[in-house]
Amino acid sequence: MDDDTIQIVPVLDLSNLSPSQLQQKIAICCSEWGVFQIINHGVPLALQNQIRDAARHFFSLPTEIQRELLQADPFSPLSVFTGLKNEGEFRNWKHTLGFKPNPYMNTNLLPCILREPFVNFREKVGSLAHGVAKEIFAGLQLNADLLSDIHTRRQTMTVNYYPPCPERNFTYGIRPHSDFGSITLLMQDEVKGLQIRKGGNWIDMNPRKDAFIVMIGDQIEILTNGMYKSVEHRVLTNRSIPRISIACFYAPAEDDVIGPLGKFMSKRTPLMYRAVKFGDYLNHGFSKPLNGKSNLILSTMECH
Ligand code: OGA
Ligand code: NI
Repeated sequence: MDDDTIQIVPVLDLSNLSPSQLQQKIAICCSEWGVFQIINHGVPLALQNQIRDAARHFFSLPTEIQRELLQADPFSPLSVFTGLKNEGEFRNWKHTLGFKPNPYMNTNLLPCILREPFVNFREKVGSLAHGVAKEIFAGLQLNADLLSDIHTRRQTMTVNYYPPCPERNFTYGIRPHSDFGSITLLMQDEVKGLQIRKGGNWIDMNPRKDAFIVMIGDQIEILTNGMYKSVEHRVLTNRSIPRISIACFYAPAEDDVIGPLGKFMSKRTPLMYRAVKFGDYLNHGFSKPLNGKSNLILSTMECH
């Protein structure tokens, strides 16, 4: 493809594709892009707006109040994190509200401004993610049982709030990285900033409020021994408008050991990644700054 051609990340309309067309299109997107968008996905717009509004409201509160709201319950699945400081190493210019389920949490104790939108949205997007993952697996002729066996983890969700950044080129909203899990479903607002990498080019993900972006994560790259690649992406800062995105991470359980499946190995495609417990992969990834797809290279290096 000519470098100067404007490329647009494919959009799949879930309402007008037969199951086999859908599987086929998803397979093409996964091998050529590692990312695609879905529309007519069944998540009501009202629910999308409701969670965006709740997130905006939450981030408009003073930091102290935000923390107080979350501290009321010691088992709260919510946590808030600010990455705005620039201490030597560039940090991400964003605030994060994370939702990580735990066995003791009681969603009735969530702050009332967040409770309903979070619980409803997560449930809807969680089943959408499972449906998309099923199509990806089916397109690879993989047994659906395998998907259910290794994806028992209750999904985490992150609300990213990118405040305006006073200095252009100062840092990133989020540094280049690939996501650690299997797939990510991401909802943007109307503000630009997200870019995905294809070959040597960074391509703008132009906002589409009716779409979810589906990104292939590292665990799918590992399972398929590199046949499908996780997509590298980043968010640029902007000087005037805040940006909100919500990411749902569909991933294996932390105790699951994920390695390349035999089906994807041959003389021509020898083993590329070491099998690692997903929890260890996560801890390793979170212990250092985001840096492109360096986690996967490390898996290869540890192969020796
Ligand atoms: C992420 C991410 C992109 C965005 O949360 O992993 O890449 O648009 N977010 O906020
Ligand atoms: Ni990401």
